[in-house]
Amino acid sequence: MGILSSRVATRSESFALNQAAYAKRIANLHARRADARAGGPEKMRAKHLARNKVLPRHRVELLMDPGSPFLELGELTGDGRYEGVSPGAGIITGVGMVSGRPCMIIANDATVKGGTYFGLTCKKHVRAQAFAWQHRLPCITLVDSGGAFLPDQANIFPDDGQFGSIFHNQIGMSGDGIPQIAVVMGPCTAGGAYIPALCDEVVIVRGQGFMYLGGPELTFAATGETVDAESLGGAAMHCGKSGVTDHIAEDDRHALLIARNIVRELGQVPPSSRKQEPSRPPRFDPAEIHGIVSRDPKFPTDTREILARLVDDSEFQEFKPLYGETLLTGFARIHGYEIGILANNGVLFPESAMKGTHFINLCCQRNIPLLFMSDVTGFMVGQDVEQAGIAKHGAKMITAMSSARVPKYTLNIGASFGAGYLAMCGRAFKPTAMFAWPNGRSGIMGPDQAAMVMSLVRETNLRIEKKTWTDEEREAFKAPVRKIYEDFQDAHNFAAHGWIDGVIEPLETRGTLALLLELAARVPAQKTQFGVFRF
Ligand code: COA
Repeated sequence: MGILSSRVATRSESFALNQAAYAKRIANLHARRADARAGGPEKMRAKHLARNKVLPRHRVELLMDPGSPFLELGELTGDGRYEGVSPGAGIITGVGMVSGRPCMIIANDATVKGGTYFGLTCKKHVRAQAFAWQHRLPCITLVDSGGAFLPDQANIFPDDGQFGSIFHNQIGMSGDGIPQIAVVMGPCTAGGAYIPALCDEVVIVRGQGFMYLGGPELTFAATGETVDAESLGGAAMHCGKSGVTDHIAEDDRHALLIARNIVRELGQVPPSSRKQEPSRPPRFDPAEIHGIVSRDPKFPTDTREILARLVDDSEFQEFKPLYGETLLTGFARIHGYEIGILANNGVLFPESAMKGTHFINLCCQRNIPLLFMSDVTGFMVGQDVEQAGIAKHGAKMITAMSSARVPKYTLNIGASFGAGYLAMCGRAFKPTAMFAWPNGRSGIMGPDQAAMVMSLVRETNLRIEKKTWTDEEREAFKAPVRKIYEDFQDAHNFAAHGWIDGVIEPLETRGTLALLLELAARVPAQKTQFGVFRF
């Protein structure tokens, strides 16, 4: 295998300036994470603890095997999207080891608006289920929720991908033999009661967990019947009379212990089907990535330098190094797991698209997972490339990427714009997981380009109306367009909307990918059936 070299001057002023700019990005990421990890407001956390309940993140920790990693998905979903609601949108989702088995853990955060479901809470829950389904992971739901966040009805109730999809997925997964377990640790009202009711085994905490289609107030309003919560939907009633739940726990810790015991009896943990070589660190310090990523997006970053700091022993068996050089393709290992990498190093040309197609084809044939490292402003434009058939070559790459049934991971390490975003396995192509670095930017086009296009359209219309505008007027028109595109392109905006699974630091990348590859190694291989290629 070829060893990547490095030409980075780590003592240069430019390196130091890049590092300083990156340190700010990382501080910003950690501030947002701290918000997400705190959960709801102090007052609600105190109320939760006063009820003798364990805080949601602590519940997740107690459920998991001590010291094992948690692969969190959607940590920053909802960030800034709902006034006064912490990032996370009131739910924690991620993969953790429980009794020696990787499980999808989905935990309501009752300190955030009573653990109710906003539109993005539904999206996050559904995304966690999709990930679990793909990896055949048992789902453990820690229920503590007031059900729907009523003002957000349009984003919760009517459509596919919203609350109803949670049930639909549970049923589908169960039909595919994927265990569904619920621990009722607080209220679950109305539609929310179906989440545990659709599970294989349900644990409920005495005096704390309640399940009913209508609570005491609604029951009184509807029927005039006066009944307390415990008799209507408490642990003793459901375990002793209705049979809706199966195990009574005395408190949160006891409930989580029962859940761990249930997981212990789920049968054989699927074995890994991939050979893992011993992990070797890169030959160049991954922390140097902070000084390599260009602080000014107008100046590109050399992706080879990034690769040299990400892959085991900096070994990269490059495929077609002399052809289509704006797309690097090759085989490498991350913590010993083999992976096929496609990484941009410039805009996509017909040759790079053809090379990408060929490489994806190879990886599917060999059942090697794919990593798309995007840093691309798009496909090349102009008469030469049109005549060279860039549309059909781009279409080939997109067909190959979309058809590929090996695990696919997308990591935005810089730019990811236009059709380049799509070709490098954008969200629509259902990557197995998708993350961005804090410097990641993405959009239909960049802010300057969008402002320019919109002003040209406006100028054409003015000409038709036989009007003109001054330079100042043009600039006043462009400024807000630029601002909208600037805010939109931020990786944190993508995380907040749930368009990516999270923002990770460069230094977290090897660990995150290794966890993902380890999960993928336990799933049976799928055969790829390519769509028609236009030649
Ligand atoms: N929709 C919108 N907001 C809700 C809500 C809902 N379903 N349930 C609770 N909230 C809000 C409260 O208004 C409060 O907001 P605030 O912090 O701005 O004042 C916040 O969530 C916390 O609620 P609170 O009642 O103070 O907390 P709690 O821990 O004592 O009780 C619940 C939580 C969920 C048990 C309780 O609020 C409740 O019963 N809600 C209604 C549940 C329901 O009927 N859902 C049916 C929906 S299908």
